[in-house]
Amino acid sequence: MEKIFAANWKLFKTPQQTRDFFGSFLPESKNLKGKVIFFPPATSWEAAGQVLKGQSIFWGAQNIYFEAQGAFTGENSGQTLKELGGKYALIGHSERRKLFSESDEWTALKVRHVLNLGLIPMLCIGETLEEREQGKTDQINQRQLQAALKNVDASSPLIVAYEPVWAIGTGKVATPEQAATAHLQIRQYLDHMGFKQTPILYGGSVKPDNAKDLLSRPHINGFLVGGASLEVFSFLKICQS
Ligand code: PGA
Repeated sequence: MEKIFAANWKLFKTPQQTRDFFGSFLPESKNLKGKVIFFPPATSWEAAGQVLKGQSIFWGAQNIYFEAQGAFTGENSGQTLKELGGKYALIGHSERRKLFSESDEWTALKVRHVLNLGLIPMLCIGETLEEREQGKTDQINQRQLQAALKNVDASSPLIVAYEPVWAIGTGKVATPEQAATAHLQIRQYLDHMGFKQTPILYGGSVKPDNAKDLLSRPHINGFLVGGASLEVFSFLKICQS
């Protein structure tokens, strides 16, 4: 399976900072193997769309609403994303679930909306520290997958990102063994649901110095990187791993 390296910029990078980043990143990225996808904040979509036009590097939204337009103050539209050249949308990132109260139900609505627009959802799942300590990791992952993917055709394009919440932005990366165990369970569950071609990315404190080891484990098909994707050479090193 082709490796995927995704960058979640969260609420970082203005349009100018986005252009500057790609000004340095693009010349260095010519020989990269695998697929590279950026998730800039919505205010930098247009800048990303302009600089990445005609490049073999993709980009998408960190969040879009499940209606293309209407009286939804403050939300982002998938139609706009599409018009600007975005191809992907993150759905159910743990920060959305926790800080913005996104429910399993919303992840389901968003997955369907994104697919209807002809875009590709990247569904984020993962357990909190408390859930892990209670031995509920598999149960949580399965619940989140099941909820978001019910009524979704298993041949739909889709990427899953497993991001244990306790490893996000904390510097506490899952050990390669912990990640491999969770990825095997998720792989088996996705296969069971019919999603046999769906890649599974790992996310949570991925850095240039832990990327290679994680990527050598079975069923880890790439990364979703937050903090370490903000700096050109650190993300490049991860993409080269
Ligand atoms: P991190 O974030 O790499 O900074 O831990 C990952 C994510 O939230 O997608």
